[in-house]
Amino acid sequence: MFRRKFLATTLATAVALSLSSLYGSAYAAADATTVQSDENWARNSVIYQIYPRSFADGDGNGIGDMSGVISRLPYLDKLGVDALWLSPFYKSPQADAGYDVADYRVVDPMFGSTEEFERLLKEAHARGMKVIVDLVPNHTSDEHAWFQAALKSPPGSPERARYIFRDGRGENGELPPNNWPSVFGKAAWDRVPGEKQWYLHLFDSKQPDLNWDNPEVRAEFEKVLRFWLDRGVDGFRVDVAHGLIKEKGLADLPIEEGRENAGALVGPMWDQDGVHEIYRSWRKVLDQYPGKRIMVAEAWVTPRERLTHYIRPDEMQQAFNFDYLMTKWDAGAFKEVIDSSMALTATVGAPTTWVTSNHDTVRAPSRYGLKELGKHALPGNGIGPATAQPDEALGLRRARALAMLTLALPGSTYIYQGEELGLPEHTTMEGQYRQDPMFLRTKGEEVGRDGCRVPLPWKADAPSFGFGPGDKTWLPQPASYARYAVDRQEGAADSTLNLYRKILELRHDHKLGDGQLQWADAGKDVLAFDNGDLRVLINMGAQAAALPAGSQVLLSSEPLAAPDRLPANTAVWLKRT
Ligand code: NOJ
Repeated sequence: MFRRKFLATTLATAVALSLSSLYGSAYAAADATTVQSDENWARNSVIYQIYPRSFADGDGNGIGDMSGVISRLPYLDKLGVDALWLSPFYKSPQADAGYDVADYRVVDPMFGSTEEFERLLKEAHARGMKVIVDLVPNHTSDEHAWFQAALKSPPGSPERARYIFRDGRGENGELPPNNWPSVFGKAAWDRVPGEKQWYLHLFDSKQPDLNWDNPEVRAEFEKVLRFWLDRGVDGFRVDVAHGLIKEKGLADLPIEEGRENAGALVGPMWDQDGVHEIYRSWRKVLDQYPGKRIMVAEAWVTPRERLTHYIRPDEMQQAFNFDYLMTKWDAGAFKEVIDSSMALTATVGAPTTWVTSNHDTVRAPSRYGLKELGKHALPGNGIGPATAQPDEALGLRRARALAMLTLALPGSTYIYQGEELGLPEHTTMEGQYRQDPMFLRTKGEEVGRDGCRVPLPWKADAPSFGFGPGDKTWLPQPASYARYAVDRQEGAADSTLNLYRKILELRHDHKLGDGQLQWADAGKDVLAFDNGDLRVLINMGAQAAALPAGSQVLLSSEPLAAPDRLPANTAVWLKRT
């Protein structure tokens, strides 16, 4: 907390001084004070993901917006997070909830205006919170001016060269140019009506892939980066960072891979070495700006070592650790992923990140309430009415313990909105309400991601659970969300919200994000480690385990019935004596 307030002060000083005639020298002085903290922020921050359409709705149309976010900044400040990441809010037909951008420089009127975004930024900064925004470089919307121009231009034209158009196979080009599947189901190609040409879209038909071999595309994105950096954003979350470059020739996948390969992490469209040149050039742009502006890679790659390429010293500062997110509830598995994540990031001098939920995956309390994680650990594989249902109480208990493990680890941690409430997935949403293109393109064969994107509950007894002023919500909320509403949790000392507040306060006070992890031995089902002056224990087994005699408990995820026992699915932070 103290660190955040300190940052806010230096920021205000920097702004005030920059207005004076002493701009040059005063600015340098202010910069010198912020540098140390700024270096830290890229390494140890707790970054809260806001999915704007589901966070808070200011105007009552059922879709969240900027004014909703602004009104909740005091809530986020009190929670104690260091930074916010906003999922896309740009002009978009919303075919993939905004990850289909029609204009990278305009705030979609559905979310508000550029002025409102600037207000959000200013008010977040004044509270000492950084703000990073989403950058979607792999594809645009089909309603982007460039794609519209491409459709109106002939094959071989410069307009088409910004995307990946190819002649179809077969006598009249009636077959797609290759057999690549879309991640969202069906083919990755759509035909231009009345033509032999098709265009590539690794995701939805309304998300044509850009051609990153074209210098014009590169130049445009550098301008987009500068546009938002000039407005003062602190960085970017880079969408599909592993997809921009495709292997030359666009060869067919081996036939047997077919649809099975759709979500695969390897193949001629993923993790090509050529992407790194792009991130090196972006890093140069970011480094021209004062303060530390960061990039975080959304890159689903394998083997794990390949992820470190994205966070080499001249590329991005962070990459999401999805291996951690996909780990099953098992002490050995968690120990392994923690060790390997830290060892690998250390090879390039980058911080490790820790992620347990986001807008693409089943929320942690629901995931860990399942008997078997199965495919539900993978993005997009939601839980629906026909799926085996999770044990809600067990999942919540585990998620609370997991928060105490995750936020005690050195490095940077991401919190997905609602995670601090212990919010479960909507696991019984009927197909008629689902909007995820993944669900729609596979005709429901894949449940998709709507269940983790449901509007947040703020007030237990209000229409839309206080999401907006009226009763509209773009996705239905389950009745159980009343129990998780912010106002219900505010006053309850042992609520998940209050647990998160304490965790974040202690994390800051004990500088856990900057610390070192030292394992201790505590048996097969219990992870135990020291970080600074804290000892952390989590019991992932089914039986209670022993706690060291005379332990001074600072925090526990569940009440402890006996001072020397750590119940199953429970974590504690002890003061080391
Ligand atoms: C990853 C994003 O997180 C996801 O929501 C989106 O559908 C795809 N990238 C395509 O942009």
